[in-house]
Amino acid sequence: MDNLCHPKDGASTKTGSSTSFDSATLSMLNEVHSLICQAALCEGTDRQNKVLEFKHPQQLKELLELHISDDAASKEDIMEICKKVIKYSVKTAHPYWCNQLYTGVDPYSLAASWITEALNTNQHTYEAAPVFSLVEQHMIQKMCSLVEFDDGDGMFFPGGTMGNMVGIHLARYHYDNNIKKSGMFTNQPLVIFTSQEGHYSIKTAANLLGFGLDNVVAVKTDGIGCILIQDLEEKVQLCLKENRIPCVLVATSGSTVLGAYDPLDECAVVCKKYGMWMHVDAAWGGGALVSKKHTHLCKGIKEADSVVWCLHKMLGVQLQCSAMLVKKKGFLLECNSLKADYLYQKDKFYDTSYDYGDMSIQCGRKADGFKSWLMWKAHGDLGMEARVDSAFSLARYMEERLKATEGFRLVLPDFQCTNVCFWYIPPRLRGQTESEEWWLEINQIAPRIKQCMMEEGSMMIGYQPLHCHGWKNFFRIIIANPLLTTSDIDYVISHIHDKGKDL
Ligand SMILES: Cc1ncc(COP(=O)(O)O)c(C=O)c1O
Repeated sequence: MDNLCHPKDGASTKTGSSTSFDSATLSMLNEVHSLICQAALCEGTDRQNKVLEFKHPQQLKELLELHISDDAASKEDIMEICKKVIKYSVKTAHPYWCNQLYTGVDPYSLAASWITEALNTNQHTYEAAPVFSLVEQHMIQKMCSLVEFDDGDGMFFPGGTMGNMVGIHLARYHYDNNIKKSGMFTNQPLVIFTSQEGHYSIKTAANLLGFGLDNVVAVKTDGIGCILIQDLEEKVQLCLKENRIPCVLVATSGSTVLGAYDPLDECAVVCKKYGMWMHVDAAWGGGALVSKKHTHLCKGIKEADSVVWCLHKMLGVQLQCSAMLVKKKGFLLECNSLKADYLYQKDKFYDTSYDYGDMSIQCGRKADGFKSWLMWKAHGDLGMEARVDSAFSLARYMEERLKATEGFRLVLPDFQCTNVCFWYIPPRLRGQTESEEWWLEINQIAPRIKQCMMEEGSMMIGYQPLHCHGWKNFFRIIIANPLLTTSDIDYVISHIHDKGKDL
């Protein structure tokens, strides 16, 4: 038996050359690696350099020469293409990219991505990904302990959108596990509740899973964007009167625009009373869980049935890295398992409980957990906590500076998370009656300032209206990049004034 597995020394059973990576290929890879380190990482984070080199799509198409011909491109051409790709891509690790909920490049997380990309690993089974399977399970247990799921499990999914969808999918299975076999055809409509500030991925899930958009009920929020429990309960009761089934509440820990944290303890009381699944979308605000100072924002998260937490957002792990945590161990497997017998054979020679890929709704999965583990290991719990604390304190600094600077108006008196939302009012519009016309003018200011910034390549900050509060376009800056300092915040404020003062 042993002989079959291990040929004797010197006896070769393999043929052909030993590697397809000849010296020319390796030198190309080294060159690309150096280019990345220099152009994307060093130059791409230098405050003297641009965040982006904006081109309109038609111009960019011409610059990129997208056409693929019959003949192979030369190595020199490929290097030129790589340079152009970096040049015209947005540098999201630059301190003045404050546009979305992800930012920065952590060197250890990047190293982990390089390793998983080079190994081209697919994390469905232990046999294909032994190291990454153990790492993922370790990270899931660490995160379960932070949300106080004493006997939970979970896995990484590609993004918060997918995590919310899986949470809602679990809720439906919890309501009626027969749906897995028979579909939804015989059921009364199942309803998803979420606050009016909930992320649009909840509607995406309703669309994909067959709930329908009409069965997503938006619950009102208070003045700072947190779900109103009384309105939630009234809407649940209304839904019962209409013969619809209250199936799941998606509570939010850190809403996309205002960074609001729903009162999870109170949400849990309503969920228990009406037998609803409680899923927490902590995609953005879950980062607070690593900080002793800010973890209280997620108070009550242990009452949830499932939680999605994106480590690629506040914690800065390389995109994408979203953990789905489930309170009841084995429930994810029960809900999703299809036992594909070409992958999950039970007669393998090792402990097949490590072939837990059948918990997923994907077949192939990237080894996302590894990117978070290597980074966390390199910084330690204290390093991760310091990163989050520093983002929170910079956000509070920015609030104070905005309050003290003429022409800026905060959308809320205070923010719970590291989102800071504000209007810029140019001198010509200051001190006037704030009529509808005045607000229509203000509505155009943020998009025009953003246009200037992007055309110049100097900075990127998001803006949006918030219709549920009747608010016209305002800036939402996200503070999460560890490179940001108080001087950067001062510069951001003066730059906005510079771009907007003559509008
Ligand atoms: C609160 C919240 N939930 C879910 C998502 C979706 O996450 P992803 O972009 O990773 O799909 C976002 C995205 O910004 C979000 O802000």
